[in-house]
Amino acid sequence: MDKPRLLEFQRIGNEEIGYISVAEHENLPFVPKRFYWTYNVPEHIERGGHAHKTLKQIIVAIRGRLEIKVWHRGHYYDFILDDPNEGLFIPPVSWREIKFHESSILFCAASDVYKEDDYIRDFDLFMKKYFKPDES
Ligand code: TYD
Repeated sequence: MDKPRLLEFQRIGNEEIGYISVAEHENLPFVPKRFYWTYNVPEHIERGGHAHKTLKQIIVAIRGRLEIKVWHRGHYYDFILDDPNEGLFIPPVSWREIKFHESSILFCAASDVYKEDDYIRDFDLFMKKYFKPDES
């Protein structure tokens, strides 16, 4: 079963000259079809507040610090992303809430194009219908 988890990317460079982080598709849990990034989010705003029925995502704090709460198949997870060389894999059917610290930038690689009907935006419905542990 796919669980929410941290991924470490390949990192090239050093302190003197800086770094490049690389993600090639054969080292990822899926081949991305869409990228988006979220920025200029005020500290008092909480983003996320939804789950996806089928979408897989990898989220990277390419700048700053993100606090991400994830509910997935009977488990609750707390992640802090503050290293641009680290990504959070979020499998389908995961409710997430995301807090941005000042000037943080969230980068996301997603397994599919944008489809509004893939969203679950009602937490009670998510809890009732989608949160139960996977039997497989
Ligand atoms: P949403 O995924 O709810 O973002 P967040 O979890 O950060 O609040 O998206 C916010 C709005 O942007 C929503 O109306 C859908 C739209 N949107 C697109 O049109 N295309 C996209 O690829 C994304 C990610 C969002």
